[in-house]
Parts: sequence; structure tokens; C-alpha cells
Amino acid sequence: MVCIYPSLIAADPLCLKNEIQLLTPYCAGFHLDIMDNHFVPNITWGPYTVNAIAQLGKPVWIHLMIEKPDLFYEKLLLISGSLVSFHIESNIDIFKFIKIIKEKKHKASIAISPKTPISEAVPFLNDIDQVLVMSVEPGFSGQPFLKASLDRVSELVLYRQKYNATFRIGIDGGIDETNIELVVKKGVDDCAIGSGIFQQSDYVAALQRLQGLVFSR
Ligand code: DX5
Ligand code: ZN
Repeated sequence: MVCIYPSLIAADPLCLKNEIQLLTPYCAGFHLDIMDNHFVPNITWGPYTVNAIAQLGKPVWIHLMIEKPDLFYEKLLLISGSLVSFHIESNIDIFKFIKIIKEKKHKASIAISPKTPISEAVPFLNDIDQVLVMSVEPGFSGQPFLKASLDRVSELVLYRQKYNATFRIGIDGGIDETNIELVVKKGVDDCAIGSGIFQQSDYVAALQRLQGLVFSR
């Protein structure tokens, strides 16, 4: 089953609660981009805001684009089953962080930026729940989808088939009604979508159109 997570960085920051409540019945959960203005040149929310959003009850997919993802994660109160993506480019002990995430009954996901070879994730593929293929340079919503991401998804699908692996494949950046069918056909399971929902006049209708495109397959 394909899951769609609206990416809240693209929502109106002054209407976050309303927008979450509006979309809650129709999505798998919400994608929250955490940026510290060091790892990427942008800044978003701290743990208090993230925890307040998580307490609204819908699963969250936290995407950590920060220098010290492990220290930030320690401050989070997430329901079990929440998804936690951190970057393979981060300077941390990856196996140790995966273990910590799993001990808290959260799902561990490794995010890979467009310029990093997919092969760098191979040592971790049996230990994680998801690989997140970044289909834009991390940092901002509203960038165009990088087409080379399709081959990167295929590389992961091949690995998954060859080794009977169970990780899901996520995609994040530039997904909208023009390309969602294609990425899902390639093998993507989880889509984070910002402007493809929040730049549309009717968010619920936009989300439902996106779902119609993948669920009718
Ligand atoms: C980019 C973020 C994405 C982004 C998605 O750094 O990780 O989650 O907000 O926004 P769109 O769908 O507009 O590219
Ligand atoms: Zn993201």
C-alpha cells in the first residue's frame, strides 16, 4: 500500500493546526522537515513544536536535516510506529542511531541526498525500515523533481528483490500529480508531498487526486 504524507513545511505556518485537522482523515500521517540552518541552509521547528504536532495523534514522519540528529531525537515524544529519517551524510554512528530508534519502537529510515551514491546505504539496508530517496537537494519546498531519482529508486528495488529485503522506499521532493504515478510504478512506497498539496487551492481535493492516481493502480 502506498502512503502519502503531506509535508508541513509547505503549509501556512499560521494555520498549521487547521490544516493538519483538515487533512488528518485522508492521509497516512504528516512529514515534518527539521532543519537547523547548518546541515541545510534553512530552519524550521524545534522539539516543542514537533511534539505538539505529534500529540494531535496522527503518525508523523520526522525528516532530520540537522548536524546532530541523535540529540534532537532524544527530545521527541512520538507515538510508536512513527517514522524517523536521518541523513547518511550526517556525521553520526549510524548503526547506533538505528538501534536507538528501534528501541523506542519507531521506524528507522536513512535519507540519501541526490549526489550521494545509493551504494553507500547498502551496509544498512538489512537494519532499516525505509530508505528515503531525496528527489531534490534538501532544504526547501517547491523545487523541481530530479529525474535521476527514478534510476536511484530502481537501484533500490533491484537490491530489494535480489536479497529479499523488506525496507520500504520513500521519496521526497517535487512530487505532484504529474509524476506520482511514475515514481510509484518504479517502486516507491512512501511519498512526502509539500507544494503538490499546499500550493493547490483545495488541499483535501489535491490529496485525494494524488491518492486516486496511485490507489487506482
Ligand atoms: C526538502 C524537504 C521536502 C520538501 C517537500 O528538503 O525535505 O520534504 O518539503 O516539498 P515539495 O513537495 O514542495 O518539494
Ligand atoms: Zn522532507
